[in-house]
Amino acid sequence: MKVIDILRLGPVMPVLVIDDLAHAVPLARALVAGGIRVLEVTLRTAVALDAVRAICAAVPDAVVGVGTITTAQDVADSKAAGAVFGVSPGLTAGVLDAAQQTDLLLLPGTMTPSDVMTARAVGLDACKLFPAAVAGGVGMLKALYGPFADMTFCPTGGIDPAGAPSYLALPNVACVGGSWLAPKALLQAGDWPAITALARAAAALRAG
Ligand code: 3PG
Repeated sequence: MKVIDILRLGPVMPVLVIDDLAHAVPLARALVAGGIRVLEVTLRTAVALDAVRAICAAVPDAVVGVGTITTAQDVADSKAAGAVFGVSPGLTAGVLDAAQQTDLLLLPGTMTPSDVMTARAVGLDACKLFPAAVAGGVGMLKALYGPFADMTFCPTGGIDPAGAPSYLALPNVACVGGSWLAPKALLQAGDWPAITALARAAAALRAG
């Protein structure tokens, strides 16, 4: 399996910030129930790796990745926790090497043509555009398609349900990333049906 196969599992990859470990499994179940299987758990909280372990154990239909990977140690920790893939805001030799050595599928962040060339040079055919909206959004992806028609993107950062269809219409976009599927207020309220409803709407997003 390659990371592009994961990106093609659905139109939206939720970016999850889990503060309370007790939220991890019900959140993952709510998203999967709405048809969103690929989950990115960011390493921005103390319980992130425990959340990954808990979701992997309890929600077998979820395809769990770790986000906000910035070091080789993050790669090792993510693999050990059971992540299938890792997402990084950027692209460094240290993270690329660690991912290859530990056999963790990596979705690195790119923002410039040079970043895309670096990703391609190490054999990757998919990467993030991050932060997508401020990096030029749809116009940037159209421009990148000229020289890099063989590269596929998961634009992430500043994308909402209204804007997602114009990204998904592009030939070089497999899916978009976004945090709108797991708003903090719904997590704190334990409103899992509302999250399932957001997931269902996201899973139905099509190119427009
Ligand atoms: C992030 O950095 O949290 C992700 O890029 C998601 O960004 P968003 O909140 O703009 O969807």
